[in-house]
Order: sequence, then C-alpha cells, then structure tokens
Amino acid sequence: MFDTVIKVEDLVAGYNNKPVIKDISFSVKSGEIIAIIGPNGAGKSTLLKAILGIARIFSGAIKVLNYSVKSDLKMIKRLVGYVPQREYVSFNVPLRVRDIVLSGILLKRGPLSIPTKGDMLKVRRILESVNLPRDLWLKKFSELSGGQQQKTLLARALVSEPKILLLDEPFSAVDIPSQREIMHFLRNMVDNNKLCVLIVLHDINEVTDYIDKVILLNKTVIAWGKPEEVLTRENLKIAYGVDIEIIVHKGKCLALIGDKHA
Ligand SMILES: Nc1ncnc2c1ncn2[C@@H]1O[C@H](COP(=O)(O)OP(=O)(O)OP(=O)(O)O)[C@@H](O)[C@H]1O
Ligand SMILES: [Mg+2]
Repeated sequence: MFDTVIKVEDLVAGYNNKPVIKDISFSVKSGEIIAIIGPNGAGKSTLLKAILGIARIFSGAIKVLNYSVKSDLKMIKRLVGYVPQREYVSFNVPLRVRDIVLSGILLKRGPLSIPTKGDMLKVRRILESVNLPRDLWLKKFSELSGGQQQKTLLARALVSEPKILLLDEPFSAVDIPSQREIMHFLRNMVDNNKLCVLIVLHDINEVTDYIDKVILLNKTVIAWGKPEEVLTRENLKIAYGVDIEIIVHKGKCLALIGDKHA
C-alpha cells in the first residue's frame, strides 16, 4: 500500500459558482484514522464530497492513492467507501438489511449485475464483523433502530472492500458503547492495513482514543495534527467563535463542543 493515501493540496471546493472551503491542505497516511470536526456549515461534508468528486473543485488538487479526483474519478469511486450524513439517506427504503448491504457490491459493479454466492458470503461476513445481530438481517431497513441503521450503512460501505472509508457523522443516532465498538472495529481494520478512515465527528470526546489526527475546519483548516495539539481552547475559539470549555479527565483533554449542534 502507498504511504500517503490521500493528499489534498491548496484545495478550493464548493458548488455551482460558489467556493465553500479554501486553502485546504493535508495528507492521510496508510494506517491512520483522521477525524474532521468543526461547526455547522464549516464545509466538513463538502470536503468529503470533494474527495468523491461530488462537490466542485475550483482549484488545487486531490489525489487518492496517486489517482487524481479530476481525471481518475471512476477508479477513486472503486477505492473509496462512503457513508453520507444521516439526513441525506432515505429512511423509507423498503429494502431489507441484507439487500442494502449487497447493493454496496452490486452498485460498484455496474447495472444489472447478478449476485454470486461469493457476494452473499461477503455480505454475511461483514454483517457479522459490524456485529449486527443475525435476526435483523432480513428485517426492513426502516424497522431498525438508528444505531442499527448506521451499522447497516457501514456494512454497505465496507462490503466492497474499499481502501479508504469516508464517514460523515456516522454516530448521531448511536449510543456511546456502540460508537466505541464501531471505532474499535475500524481501528483493527486500519491497524491491519486494510483501510484508512476519514470520519466527520460531531462529538469527538468519546472516541478520541481511536483517532490519530484531527482536522479542525471552518471554511479552511484552522488546525491539523494530533488530537491534543488541535483541541486547544484557542483553536476551538477560532473555529467555533465561542469559548469552549476544556476539561482534563483521566489525562485526556475533553472539549465540551458536543452540545453546540443544532
Ligand atoms: N449541494 C449544495 N449546493 C450548494 N451549497 C451547498 C450544498 N451543500 C452544502 N452547501 C453549502 O456549503 C456550506 C458547507 O456545507 P457542509 O454541508 O459542507 O457543512 P458541514 O460542515 O458538513 O455542516 P454540518 O455540521 O451542518 O453537517 C454551507 O453553507 C451549505 O449551505
Ligand atoms: Mg455535514
């Protein structure tokens, strides 16, 4: 695997004629889990969408495993798994859990592809890995709890064995033990060099232990580095525009930003 998995240089990106984020530069190395945090409207989702070629790139460059988002998008879509932010997923889908996960394979393969026995085996394995109880596999997606839905969407993103996983606020409906369980699972995959993860988080405190680096974003990169370097009162004030309390608990710095979300 390449040492640098994602390289973003001087990126300006947005929609139509309007740039939303600018002067974005950072890189993600193999074996890393990177968290993106920042206030509502900071451009966190836009940054992920720029990597996926969904948002418009005005200038600068994004490379994923040396493929350019501008010219090799097809390849990048094959390499990257994506779980969009909750509100953009239709929760009225009449499909069953197993079929939703299977769609993660079939949609990447192209129209009218037929599932093989191998595909079904992969679906079973990934549902087991994300620890979704077997009695839920044939349930309708809309009948699951919020956390179970998130696990299903995570399984759908992982079943095609992506090299990079982009998660956009995956924990909004997930209780703390399940957040940690999912992070633990992702950490194992990352440590085994199977994956690197870029995750937008609303509340980083519960999972700081699993994060290698943090990008603090508000239209541009306010700070970028290890959690303890980034999560300072000064940086958070610049990003969120208000004083954010930091408490030290069991040797860890905790930033009380979780309850500022709309
Ligand atoms: N499809 C779109 N077309 C035009 N503008 C958009 C689009 N999506 C987002 N924007 C604008 O881009 C800016 C950044 O939005 P984005 O969704 O990236 O923020 P965010 O950091 O993910 O916020 P949140 O924490 O609320 O999810 C906002 O001002 C938003 O209105
Ligand atoms: Mg967002």
